[in-house]
Amino acid sequence: MKILVVGGGGREHAIIRKLKESPKVTGIYCCPGNGGIAKDAECFPIKATDIEGMTAFAKEKAVDLVVVAPDDPLVLGMADVLEAEGFMVFGPSQKAAEIEGSKVFSKNLMKKYGIPTAGYEVFSDSASAMAYVERNNQFPIVIKADGLALGKGVIIAQNLEEAKDGIRSIMEDKIFGKSGNNIVVEEYLTGPEVSVLAFTDSKTVCPMVSSMDHKRVNDHDEGPNTGGMGTIAPNPYYTPEAAAQCMETIFLPTMNAMNAEGRPFKGCLYFGLMLTPKGPYVIEYNCRFGDPETQVVLPLLETDLVEIMEAISQERLGELEIRWKKGAAACVILASGGYPKAYETGKPVFGLDENGQHPGVTVYHAGTKLQNDVLCTAGGRVLGVTAVGGTLPDALAKSYAAVREITFEGAHYRTDIGSKKF
Ligand code: AMP
Ligand code: GLY
Repeated sequence: MKILVVGGGGREHAIIRKLKESPKVTGIYCCPGNGGIAKDAECFPIKATDIEGMTAFAKEKAVDLVVVAPDDPLVLGMADVLEAEGFMVFGPSQKAAEIEGSKVFSKNLMKKYGIPTAGYEVFSDSASAMAYVERNNQFPIVIKADGLALGKGVIIAQNLEEAKDGIRSIMEDKIFGKSGNNIVVEEYLTGPEVSVLAFTDSKTVCPMVSSMDHKRVNDHDEGPNTGGMGTIAPNPYYTPEAAAQCMETIFLPTMNAMNAEGRPFKGCLYFGLMLTPKGPYVIEYNCRFGDPETQVVLPLLETDLVEIMEAISQERLGELEIRWKKGAAACVILASGGYPKAYETGKPVFGLDENGQHPGVTVYHAGTKLQNDVLCTAGGRVLGVTAVGGTLPDALAKSYAAVREITFEGAHYRTDIGSKKF
């Protein structure tokens, strides 16, 4: 099979590495890809959101499967267009992707179907939102832009002033554009956070190994939110009891709710959960593999990923037994200095071999490019250094040993991935 993977970050690199293990695969294309992905797949500079360009490319190369990995092309309906052209696609329809594309939609869905989530109100004008937070007078409170915002559309306001500033910046200054036309204001929850990615064909839901992201840029969860600075899998707080409860109160009800709404979800459904004192609650849904969760979850997958994607497409996921490796995985992100705010690019990366790898670990490239044959930085998150071990401490030790040997000017990483205590 020839496979086209849409996207160009660490997640896509991890997907490609896993696809390459399948005996069914004869060739992989990635659009747009990046400097490191180019060692594993043929990359072409088509933007991930260019539906017309991507469809034309898929036709030209006569691919057998298209994996649409990022959120924005899914929310724009890329999977629908490719399917209408006869391609087998991994990734949900536009209507199903709204579970991530609109927080108002997902909150209303959870309310309607009794899926546990933080109490909330929706506002379409800033004056009523401000009047509400003033009247409610409980802090911290959480303010979320309705639409996509590169993982940065959530403000946790510690007091009234911060809440009003947040509402103003999203709804009046439009820092996230029209994603901020509506907002959700919700109750602040506490507890360990767990990411659960699940394969689903709308009939069966198969949770993958659980994981934990680290969203803040600095150690001890300080500094602004990022796309994710590191991950571990499995998540040590996600007990078998919590997993059973999530299946019953969250995973199955969500799949069924999407069917009842006429929006069957096929692909990878991401559950962002919080294990609160009152049980597991949904913080957010994503309509795709998480980044950098994928970088620790897929290395533990034993079953052929192509077989899983085919089974989902043919709605026979229930017939497959999906197997996972024992042990643990850890991914430490090397980011450009300054990220998630302004940062420089074009810095040569040292400590990697000609394939962009380092002994004992797998280096997933998030933001690299080849400049005169030299691998250079090209994004905020640059590399995801991933190791698998018998235990989490083993995996972390291997990952950090490599991280200390990989360098570029201004490189920043967290030194406390996987060590958080609740
Ligand atoms: P999201 O982009 O929705 O995943 O939110 C980003 C981060 O904000 C989450 O990973 C949580 O750490 C935090 N967060 C979101 N909603 C809440 C909430 N209701 N209570 C506490 N923290 C939250
Ligand atoms: N790591 C969080 C996300 O992919 O949205």
